[in-house]
This record gives sequence, structure tokens and C-alpha cells, in this order.
Amino acid sequence: MPKGLQDIYMNTETDSSVLNSEARSSWYTDVLIIGSGAAGLRAALAASERADVTLITKTTLKESNTLYAQGGIAVAMNVDDTIDLHVEDTCSAGCGLCDVDAVETMVSEGIPRVTELLDWGANFDWEGALPRFTQEAAHSRRRIVHKGDATGRETTDVLVQRVLSTERIRVLSNAFAIDLLTDAETPQVKDNTTCYGVTAIVEGELRNLYAKSTILATGGLGQLYPCTSNPEVATGDGFAAAWRAGCEMVDMEFVQFHPTTLYLDGAPNFLISEAVRGEGGRLINIRGERFMEKYHEKGELAPRDVVSRAIQNEMYLTGFPCVYLDITHKPANFIQERFPTISDTTKRYGLDINIDLIPVRPGAHFMMGGIRTNIDSETSLKGLYACGEVACTGVHGANRLASNSLLECLVFGVRAGDNAADYASSQTLQTPPNIQIPSNEEMTSELDENSVLAAKDAIRETLWENVGIERDSEGLEQTLYVLEEIGTEIDLCPYSSTSLQTTDVALCETFNMLNVAWIITQAALVRTESRGGHYRADFPEQDDVDWLQRIIMTRDHDPEIVEL
Ligand code: SIN
Repeated sequence: MPKGLQDIYMNTETDSSVLNSEARSSWYTDVLIIGSGAAGLRAALAASERADVTLITKTTLKESNTLYAQGGIAVAMNVDDTIDLHVEDTCSAGCGLCDVDAVETMVSEGIPRVTELLDWGANFDWEGALPRFTQEAAHSRRRIVHKGDATGRETTDVLVQRVLSTERIRVLSNAFAIDLLTDAETPQVKDNTTCYGVTAIVEGELRNLYAKSTILATGGLGQLYPCTSNPEVATGDGFAAAWRAGCEMVDMEFVQFHPTTLYLDGAPNFLISEAVRGEGGRLINIRGERFMEKYHEKGELAPRDVVSRAIQNEMYLTGFPCVYLDITHKPANFIQERFPTISDTTKRYGLDINIDLIPVRPGAHFMMGGIRTNIDSETSLKGLYACGEVACTGVHGANRLASNSLLECLVFGVRAGDNAADYASSQTLQTPPNIQIPSNEEMTSELDENSVLAAKDAIRETLWENVGIERDSEGLEQTLYVLEEIGTEIDLCPYSSTSLQTTDVALCETFNMLNVAWIITQAALVRTESRGGHYRADFPEQDDVDWLQRIIMTRDHDPEIVEL
């Protein structure tokens, strides 16, 4: 048994008598958490108050979308702010599709969650006796607490430190969860499937990790697009695993494109925070014209989908591949203090934001949809919980309000952790019938690295072209065809749920990307209107008569349209 895993075994030793022989030679725990962004870390801390927890993460404990979050955490704690105002702003950004119950839960429980983070040592910026609140688009108040432009890093540091010093939490890094273990061969009958953990690649081998309850907190999917603010790990793995296991997925047509990612030769994908516009940054095109007033009364602080489409249009009108963000009118000391990460990163690529314009263009940023959960983070599978970006409580509707994502992670991370621990305490650990025991001998045939990389690029290209900031039925239909073709090239089917028997992480990621691209494209075809992050050029209007509804995608079922 590899080092560290003995501990996992020991945690649930008393349960081992109820396990069959396969399970005894596998690894098991009370609550298994997959993913180590703010949602997974916070869930682990909550669950560990009542249960033994194993947290597995794809690469390192700190690597996740959370680490790169710049803007901050939206919370109704400023003197002129109220819970009602924050709820109102969130619902208005969500364009009529928010679940108001979920929003009220997030906004009200957000206050104790952020307070607790401060008590645990989060070193956010202060102004006198209060945190310093910044402004971001579509907020009616200054309500974003932050640490310069590195709020995600600060939040990660505090949570990671706490997780590492909690005895009941075991961490497995470089463990890639492939598929959920369930008792259903084909989930034709909804609500009747139970989750018992995952099959994962651990230390180069396939393993079943059994758990009384499982929490998916695997984050986002920005890597399905070539331009994105998300790190390399964000390949949509949790969405795909949940869909293959028969979970209901909802609102999958709503991908948010952030208006401003860096567009600089040789520089990697990098976010230029909305807070730059919140602090007075101006968007101008290559001709030096400030253009946002043409598109929205709130100018640079219009909703993200509006700004992204405006930028795309200006790029088209000027025939130039980017626009510029100008913050040069602000004092140098303010810029350095407020945006040290952006300032230092751009400097490495020869750009001084005190005197230079920042070349920017939109990039995939956030998935509003995901695994359908209620406000207790329960999914449609028994024993499976989801929180953070991979989950969809309906809290963001069709468009997420800036800086509500870390808040969501903290609030629903705790709810997932608490409820998963409660569920675990009512269960004895068992292995499911029909369980697939991973074989490390009979692997899915390996593919050469170039074919896998080429397939990933092809998926990104077609999504960017046809399932990006603007969509229409022709492009969406064509994408379904292209995805099948890409799949054929590498012997994978975009709508298949067959488990891969492989220890090749890149191959698993490609399969996940194909599955998720398929779901997003299908959902985008079904919604014949424009709303929030979903803009159909062939149906440009928001249709509140027919489309105040949500689309549920479940494997082996036709898309289902349900009332709010
Ligand atoms: C940003 O800093 O612009 C991103 C914050 C967010 O997406 O909430």
C-alpha cells in the first residue's frame, strides 16, 4: 500500500467487516471529496467535524480556479449595503433564471462565511474598522472584499493551511478521478442510483476509492475554449463524470465569457480583473475610441455578456484582434497597491500598465450551469453531493454576478460538507453490486500524445467558433457533427458513457471535454432565445413568455424543459 493510504484504511477500519474482498483491498473513507478549490477545501473542513474525510485533487492541493481568482468575494457587509440589495443585484444579473431561495441562502450565509475566513487569518485589505470594499460591474454597492488582486491566493492559503492541520482530513494529490462508482449499469430510472465513490488514477494505477458519501467539487471547464481565464486543470472532469453516472445536469448552455483576458504575444492566458474597470479603467478600440457608452448605459460596468459582445463587435468592426484597457490615468502607487499581480505579470511580458494600454479580449471564464443540486448540495444520485462551479443550485441563473463565485464556494462548500457527513453517519460502507473493478492489465488502447493534443485543440476551436459568445443553429448543428468526427479520430464517442480503462490523464481529459462540449452544444441548440451568457444570433431577443424555464440534460434521456 503506498505511503499515506494506510491512514485512509485505518480511518474506517471498524467498517471493514462489511466489505467484500475487493473493497478490502481497495481504499475507503467516510466522506470523499474530489477537488481542492475553495468549495472542496471548505467542504472538507465542514465534513471533518463529524467524519473522516479523504480529499483527492488532480494535481497539487493549491492548484484550482480559486487560486487565480483576482476580483474578490462579494458580501453584503458594507455600511450602506443589505442582504436584499445583494439578492436583487444577483437576480438581476441572472436575467430571471436565478433560484431565489438559493440566492438568499448564499447571500445571507455568506456573511458568517466571510467573517469566519477573516477570523481564520485572511489578510484582506482594510480601511479603518472595515474591510475595503471595491466596486465591480452590475453591483449597486461597493461590496467586494479583496486582497489586492490576489484574493483567490489568499483564500486558498488560509483554507489549505487549515485543511493540512486538521487530523481527520487526508489529502491525496495527483489523484485523477475518472468515473463515479454507482450501482446502476444504465441509469434509466432516475433517483434510484447510489454513488459509492470513484475510480481514480492514483500513483499511475487505477483504483476504486470507496466512500459512504462523495462530494464533487472539481471546478470549471474554461479549458474547453482556447481563450480562457482558467488554468490547465479546468477541463470539465466533474461535469463529465457526473453526466456519465446519470446525474441531472442543468443550465449547461450558460457559459460566461469574461470581457478582459490578456492578449499579448508569448503571454499565457491571464485574467485582467473586472476590478480594473471597477476602479475606473476604460475600454478603447484600436482607433483610440472609447466605445462602451454605445452599447450600454453603464458603460464599462455593464453586465459581462454585454461587454464581451461589445468587445467582439469592436474587434470585428476594426478588423483588429483585441481592444485595450486603459488605467494609465490612475496614480502609479494606487495601481501597484491595488493590482500588484496584474502589474507584475504584465511587466514580465514587457508591458507597464502605468503607461501602456493593456491589450485584452474576451475568454471563457465560468460555467453557470452544472450538476443539478438543491440548496443542501444533494444531486440526483444518492450519496453524491456537489458544490462550487461544478454544481448548479440556480444561484447564478443565466449570468453570474462578479465575485459571487468564491462566496458560492464557501457557502455551499459548508452545506455539502455538513450534509455529506450526516449522510455518511447513517450508512455502512458497502461496495455496490455491478461494481466495475478496475483492471490495470486490460487498458483502453493508448493514443499517441500528438493525437490527444490535436483532439483537444480541435474541440476548443469548434466551441470557440460556434458555441462561444454568439451561437446560431447552423453553427451548433455543425459542432455536433465536428465533435463526432473528432471522437472518431481518437476512437471516443462524445455521447458515450463507457468508462475508460486507462491511466493516461490527457486521454481522460479529452474524453471529458468531448462529453461536456456535447452537452453544452445540445443545450444551446434547445434554448431558442438569448439570455445572459447564452446569445443566439438567430434568436437575439430574451423570450420571457416561453423561456423562463430551465433545460435538464441527463444521459440517455432527451433534454427536459422544466419550470423555474
Ligand atoms: C475578476 O476579477 O474580474 C473575476 C471575478 C469574478 O469572476 O467574479
